[in-house]
Amino acid sequence: MISLESLPPKVMILDTTLRDGEQTPGVALSCEDKVRIAEALSDLGVDVIEAGFPITSKGEMLAVKRIAGLGLNSRVCGLARCRKEDIDAAVDCGLDYVHAFIATSDIHMKHKLKMEPEQVKAKAIESVEYAKSHGLTVEFSCEDATRTRLEFLKEMHIAVQEAGADKINMPDTVGTMSPPAMEYLVKEIMPVMKVPLSLHSHDDLGLAVANSLAGVRCGASQVHVCVNGLGERAGNAALEEVVIGLLAFYGIRTNIDTRKIGYVSKLVSRVTGFMVPDNKAVVGNNAFAHESGIHVHGMLKDPSTYEAFSPELVGMQRSIVVGKHTGAHSVKEKLQEYGVEVGDEVVNKVVEHVKKLAESGKHVDDAELVALAYHLVGMDKKAPRRIQLREFAVFTGINITPTAVVALEMDGEVHRGSQIGIGPVDAALNAIRSVLKDKVSLEEYRLAAITGGSDALCEVSVKIKFDGGTKVASVGKSVGSDIVNTSVDATIEAIDRLYARKKQLERE
Ligand code: KIV
Ligand code: ZN
Repeated sequence: MISLESLPPKVMILDTTLRDGEQTPGVALSCEDKVRIAEALSDLGVDVIEAGFPITSKGEMLAVKRIAGLGLNSRVCGLARCRKEDIDAAVDCGLDYVHAFIATSDIHMKHKLKMEPEQVKAKAIESVEYAKSHGLTVEFSCEDATRTRLEFLKEMHIAVQEAGADKINMPDTVGTMSPPAMEYLVKEIMPVMKVPLSLHSHDDLGLAVANSLAGVRCGASQVHVCVNGLGERAGNAALEEVVIGLLAFYGIRTNIDTRKIGYVSKLVSRVTGFMVPDNKAVVGNNAFAHESGIHVHGMLKDPSTYEAFSPELVGMQRSIVVGKHTGAHSVKEKLQEYGVEVGDEVVNKVVEHVKKLAESGKHVDDAELVALAYHLVGMDKKAPRRIQLREFAVFTGINITPTAVVALEMDGEVHRGSQIGIGPVDAALNAIRSVLKDKVSLEEYRLAAITGGSDALCEVSVKIKFDGGTKVASVGKSVGSDIVNTSVDATIEAIDRLYARKKQLERE
C-alpha cells in the first residue's frame, strides 16, 4: 500500500528532446538548433539533458561536445550502447554522465542482439564497470524493460548496481504499459533498488504520462520526458504534462520553472518544425481557449469555472474564440481586446453574423471579427497607412543565418534596422520590430495555405501588443504568394492599427 507520505518530495526531470525527441519521424536538428534548445532546457530547470547519442555521427559528437562545454546548470548526458566505443565517444565529448543501455526482453535478445541472457548481463556489467573506471555517472537502462521477464529484470538491476550504476532507468520502449501494470512493476522492482529508479515511457497507447505518474506513486524518483511529447513513433511522456500532473495530483515539485513551459514549447516547435496540435494539453493553442457562450460567461466571472489550472502557471495565455457557440459576452470581450468599443446592438449583430458564417462552415478569425464590427458601425473606410514599408530584403540559404534589413517610414521619417532570425520570416519580423520606438511583442503568427502546389497562395495573420503598458492588441492579415512578403505586409498592417489605436487613446 502506497501512502502519500511515501511520495518523493521532488522528482528529477531528465529531458531527452535532443535524443529520443530527435528520433521523431521528420525531425533533424543542426548543432545550432541543439544548442538553442539545450540552453532553453537548462534555463527551464531540467535536471539532466540527454544531449544526443554521440557514436551515431561526427555531427552528433560535435553537437554533444558543444553542449557539454556550455557550462549549463543542467547536467548533460549522452546515450551509449553497452560497447566500449560508445562509452569512449561519450568521454571524448567531455561528458561526465552516460546513459548506457542494452535490450533485455526475450524478443529483443533473440531477434535483435542474438545473445543469450547471460551474455547480455555480462556485457552490461562490463560496460558499467568500464564507464565507472572513466569516472562517469552511469544511468543504466534495460531496453524494453517492461516486456522483460520480471526475474531477469531484477537480476539485471541487481547486477548493474553491484557494478556501480548510479541510477537505473526502466524504459517502456514500445509503450505497452497501463497505469496499474506500471504500479505493479515498480512495486516489484523497488525492493531490489539501492539507487534512484527512473522511468522512460513511450506513448503508443496514449498512456505515457499516466504511466509515468503511476510509477512515481510507487517509488520512481526520476522521469524521462520530451518537450511537446516528441519522441520515437507516438512520442515520449510530455515534459509539460508530467510536470503539471506531478504538481496537480501529488503536489510534487520539480526543478522546472513552470512559467517558462509555454515559451520552451514554442521554441522547440519552431526549431524542430514539429507543430503542436491545437488541442494538446497544457501547451496547445486551445488549451486555454474558450468558445461556448456559457463557458465564456462563467470564465469571465471566475476562470476556475472552466479551467483546470491557470494559464499563467505555464506561461500560456487565455483566449476567447468566436464561432458557432459564441455569445455576446465573448464578442464584446474580444472586441475590447482590440480596443473596439461598440454598443450592445452592434455586438448582437456581430454575434448573428458570426453564427451564420459558422453554420456555413466558415471560421471567423480575430482580424475578420474586428473588420465586421468596423463595417457595422461604418468605420471600414480605408485610411492610408501611417507606417509605410520603404525597403525590405532578406538573406537566407544554407549555412547562413537568416538576416533581414528593413526601412519603415513613420510620421515622415525613415527608420532603418536589421535583425537575424531562425528563418526568413522570423528575421523579417524581428527587423520590423527593431525599428519601432516601442517594444512590441508578437502574440500570434498564423500561416495557412489557401491553394495547393509550390505556387500556393498563403494567408498570414499576425497579432501583436505593446509590451507592458496598454493591453490593447492589434491584428493584421494579408494574402499573397510569397510567405515572407505576405508576413511583412500583415505585420505592418497590425503595427499601423496598433499605433492608430495608441494615438486615439492618447487623445481620449
Ligand atoms: O525507448 C527506449 O527504450 C529508449 C532507450 C534507448 C532507453 O529510448
Ligand atoms: Zn525511448
